[in-house]
Amino acid sequence: MLSNKTEIGRVSFVSGGPGPVDLLTLRGLERIKNAEVILYDALLDPEFLDIFPESAICLYVGKRSGQHSRTQEEISELLLEYAKAGKHVVRLKGGDATVFGRLGEEIEILQENGISFEIIPGVSSVTAGVSALNSSLTLRGVSRQIIILDGHTIMEDNRSWVGMENFFGTIVILMGTQKIKELSLKLIAKGILPETPIALVENAGGRKVTSSFSTLNLASEKGIPKETNGPGILYVGEAIRKSLEVWNHDKKISNLSQSTK
Ligand SMILES: C[S@@+](CC[C@H](N)C(=O)[O-])C[C@H]1O[C@@H](n2cnc3c(N)ncnc32)[C@H](O)[C@@H]1O
Repeated sequence: MLSNKTEIGRVSFVSGGPGPVDLLTLRGLERIKNAEVILYDALLDPEFLDIFPESAICLYVGKRSGQHSRTQEEISELLLEYAKAGKHVVRLKGGDATVFGRLGEEIEILQENGISFEIIPGVSSVTAGVSALNSSLTLRGVSRQIIILDGHTIMEDNRSWVGMENFFGTIVILMGTQKIKELSLKLIAKGILPETPIALVENAGGRKVTSSFSTLNLASEKGIPKETNGPGILYVGEAIRKSLEVWNHDKKISNLSQSTK
């Protein structure tokens, strides 16, 4: 449903999924096919370019690890400008638009200017990553809660750590691969047991997906080395213990077969 505002132009926030184009929803695809303007983010596979209509104005507005093609203010201004000109604008975001996507700022400027918009949900890296671990965020009797954290700013914001000591579930950390040691130390300091499993998934949902495991105490000393230069997401909790055991077992077998060659 479009929000009930004066129809000048229209903006569809489309959740593009964690990278590969086949994880885009059918509804998202339909909006893209009918777009007159597309403002698109980083972390989406180049195959997305093939589904953009030839007639559409397509602008890359991605931000990755400090390399920003446009400021947030410029992106919001672009949205507004095209919508005011009566265009159907697709604002294509990575993962699900509502998860750490700066959606709030972009909605705000549209609301202030009476522009109608809609939000199309999609596959987040949060769920794509845990699928790569052959695991589940919730697990009966083991994990009944989920916390999703922004690893980039969390160290400076103490409010995000409140209540961690009684937490009974899975912690998911985005934008945290540069700070695995610090994050692991902090989680232990906040009461999460040192032997709790932690996993790093890179390129979730894609063909080049990788996963590596450790425990919080080991990760606080050694970190978990990245295997690719793709985006990575962290999972902490007992719900992934079975996957850690399978991974350790497979690694042992592979090391054994290497040493007997
Ligand atoms: C700005 S946040 C956007 C999250 C996005 N809205 C979502 O729902 O996945 C970007 C972070 O999401 C995580 N991320 C996004 N895509 C990913 C992928 N395919 N594999 C692993 N992590 C990913 C990484 O932690 C990355 O630094």
